[in-house]
Amino acid sequence: MLRTHTAGELRKSHVGQTVELCGWVDKYRDHAGIVFIDLRDRYGKTQIKFDLADNSEIQKQARSLRYEDVIKVTGEVIARPDGLSNAKLETGEIELRAITLEVLNKSLTPPYMLDGDLPNEELRLKYRFFDLRRAELQKAMILRHRLTKTVRDYFDENGFLEVETPMLGRSTPEGARDYLVPSRVHEGSFYALPQSPQIYKQILMVGGYDRYFQIARCFRDEDLRADRQPEFTQIDVEMSFVEMNDILTTIDGLVSTVFEKIRGVKLPTPLPRYSYREVMDKYGSDKPDLRFGMPIVDISDIAKESTFGVFKETVAAGGMIRGLTIKGGADKYSRKMLDQDLKAFVADFKAKGLAYFKVTDGKLDSSIAKFFDEAQQKAIIEKMEAENGDLLVYVADKYSVCCAALGALRNRIAKEQKLYDAHDFNCCWVIDFPLLNWNEDEKRWDAEHHPFCYPVKDDVELLETDPGKIRAQSYDLVCNGYEAASGSIRIHDPKVQQKVFDLLNIKQEEAERRFGFLLEALRYGAPPHGGIALGLDRWVMLMLGYDNIRDVIAFPKTQKASDMLTGAPAEVDAKQLRDLHIQLKPQS
Ligand code: AMO
Ligand code: AMP
Repeated sequence: MLRTHTAGELRKSHVGQTVELCGWVDKYRDHAGIVFIDLRDRYGKTQIKFDLADNSEIQKQARSLRYEDVIKVTGEVIARPDGLSNAKLETGEIELRAITLEVLNKSLTPPYMLDGDLPNEELRLKYRFFDLRRAELQKAMILRHRLTKTVRDYFDENGFLEVETPMLGRSTPEGARDYLVPSRVHEGSFYALPQSPQIYKQILMVGGYDRYFQIARCFRDEDLRADRQPEFTQIDVEMSFVEMNDILTTIDGLVSTVFEKIRGVKLPTPLPRYSYREVMDKYGSDKPDLRFGMPIVDISDIAKESTFGVFKETVAAGGMIRGLTIKGGADKYSRKMLDQDLKAFVADFKAKGLAYFKVTDGKLDSSIAKFFDEAQQKAIIEKMEAENGDLLVYVADKYSVCCAALGALRNRIAKEQKLYDAHDFNCCWVIDFPLLNWNEDEKRWDAEHHPFCYPVKDDVELLETDPGKIRAQSYDLVCNGYEAASGSIRIHDPKVQQKVFDLLNIKQEEAERRFGFLLEALRYGAPPHGGIALGLDRWVMLMLGYDNIRDVIAFPKTQKASDMLTGAPAEVDAKQLRDLHIQLKPQS
């Protein structure tokens, strides 16, 4: 080893020892002939002192050091003089008086300062080798490692086997576009990178591996957002001979173990379970942030009796009037903010307007208050659980628009009004999702999750009569408003599977072509089974309180799925294309 200790290791107890440290030059100060540098590695920083009195050669060398040079220092650990300890550094009670200095490698001038104002993300991604030295990223990589280790230990202790599944496989129906890999050997044929190991893990169940898990890479060519990457990692789980409750309990155990071991936070388990209906009604979202309250309240009953045209007509047309009580919001949102900013905000979710009242002297106050008589005003205030000084906002529309607009508004207002502590964690289950979703544009049913979810037993008969009402035995784990995991009990009966394919308009022939191997497997003694997948990157992000998934991945891609560091995706040689039987059309 070139070093005896790391830069985060030395304490008062080492005083008097001669040690060797290696690392990067972090800070450089020249005080009246004494040069101080902070030497950094991923364990911490240690102050090195180059004293003029010691020897002039080392002084000269020290003065030539620049940020990010890699050095090796041999020196004596000395206590810092009284009153000069640095409480911000773990090594702040000591410093190292340099005896010899060796420059292991010079660095070009870095593109920016690691602890200064950060430049735009594209530049940071280009210089990822440098950016990875940043404390936030190192914290993320360390937490990610510990999380993965805790997950593996938990599953191992609970009798699960980690089994790897192929990267080069067949397209899986997760709903995103596939990344395809052309075959050299089979001209005109392609592998698909897995969107998840979904079908393979079901086949493992048929194969008798009743408790499977895998830290699995997934690939999806979809529109990227702050919480999505084209290439991400799942903690993938599948179990046989289980019911929904068994899977939820297993994951409750995983999540509470992880939070306790990694964050020292005790989550109350079992995690609360809410039905899809309930959270949509109350929070307008299937991934509600429950760190705060502010439920959506329906006042259609009262509003339809008023003389306010918009409300009356909406209810008459089968719509509804729903709103939020913003506690103490009356003097926080001006008329202009309401009429312009917030109205435009809900318009993004197709709401045609935002009606509002301030509550003053036990009455409603706004330009539309006159359409509500005294009794109606009282009834609204009561139903909204409002008090003087509160602000009430409403969307009049069909259910889905009310949910989308108010769900998003609720999150925005809670953030603006700081209604929760950003360090809080709130996890819950959302269960009983609908099996199918009506696709209005294409006039057909889509699978809400994927086509292999088992309907709730009592609802199976609705497959033929009222498909929209069928609930799936599926569940999402929601943490702080993020979908952190998702899964279901699967169909193990080929007849039920065929019925669901029929509903999804996946013709028998197409089903055989796309998933024939799965249907075949189901016919050879498939045990009842179910599973779930947790988004590992999202968990790391949540546990650190970061809001950008790229900050928890060593080598992430940009919003446009580019790797700024290596320049991928990139052109390839003509020969490589020829080998793959691919001919590019000239770009038009
Ligand atoms: P699903 O598609 O819901 O389910 O994915 C499971 C979890 O993976 C995370 N996730 C993502 N994270 C980052 N970037 C992405 N692009 C991305 N897409 C999904 C989310 C999500 O909850 N095979 C099923 C699981 C099952 O039924 O067992 C599946 O993949 O946290
Ligand atoms: P108008 O009658 O269009 O002047 O609207 C009066 C108020 O009702 C305005 O504050 C509008 O933003 C609001 N409003 C109009 N349509 C809706 C709607 N669909 N939902 C909620 N508020 C609405």
